[in-house]
Amino acid sequence: MNDYQQFIANIKRKTGIDLSLYKEAQMKRRLTSLYEKKGLKNFQQFFAAMEKDEALFHEFLDRITINVSEFYRNAKRWEVLERKILPKLLAQNRRLKIWSAACSTGEEPYTLAMILSKFVPLADISILATDIDENAIARAQIGLYTERSLQEIPEEMKKKFFTKEGMYYKIDEKIKKAVKFKKHNLLADPFGRFFDLIVCRNVLIYFTEEAKQKLYHQFNEALRPGGILFVGSTEQIFNPVLYGFEIEDTFFYRKK
Ligand SMILES: C[S@@+](CC[C@H](N)C(=O)[O-])C[C@H]1O[C@@H](n2cnc3c(N)ncnc32)[C@H](O)[C@@H]1O
Repeated sequence: MNDYQQFIANIKRKTGIDLSLYKEAQMKRRLTSLYEKKGLKNFQQFFAAMEKDEALFHEFLDRITINVSEFYRNAKRWEVLERKILPKLLAQNRRLKIWSAACSTGEEPYTLAMILSKFVPLADISILATDIDENAIARAQIGLYTERSLQEIPEEMKKKFFTKEGMYYKIDEKIKKAVKFKKHNLLADPFGRFFDLIVCRNVLIYFTEEAKQKLYHQFNEALRPGGILFVGSTEQIFNPVLYGFEIEDTFFYRKK
């Protein structure tokens, strides 16, 4: 076993996270730059240092998770969701079962709740939002955001669902109540069933080809027939039919 493989095995034992399912060159680069900054020479020293230093372990977790997110990320796609996808799904079922997978600090599931509130009362909406990173989830539950993550949000939604508190924008309690957060590792934990809509954006790019293919199958199984998978704007599925999907629109796949 080389230095990195040994590190992968140690991390799996310590955290349950399997780094071998993340693209190797990218992950190695990110981690090497972190340990070199700390004056360490290799992965073995890095792991030993993390065992003694809780703060360094948290920096490592931060480095592997990459929590960047924003409201209405790639706004044109959310427009397609609002104009085309949701009306169709709601015509079949007024109480949609929705999952925002790898939701980071909450911008994505809260965007979903805001858009859905145009169609159904907020009190009837329940969105499951999951991420591997407990810190990100804790921040999502606090619901305070800076101007940066609100750049793409339509002005009317910003006015309706946020109040300014100092340098932060606080999200409306009714939106918060529509989202249930839970820790979940996409690469290890079981999936729910019968979802009408699964949103999984800007995380698949970090995974190996094999890990992605397994996930497409799992997402397909987790949807009800006719249910939709919404992926990120660089994450088109090359051969959706292989996984039981048809193209509904760019970046939207329907389970057959
Ligand atoms: C770049 S953010 C994407 C956030 C949001 N979906 C968006 O598109 O704005 C990637 C998120 O994936 C999460 N993540 C990474 N590996 C994961 C895994 N194995 N299972 C669940 N979430 C994971 C990270 O913690 C991070 O919050």
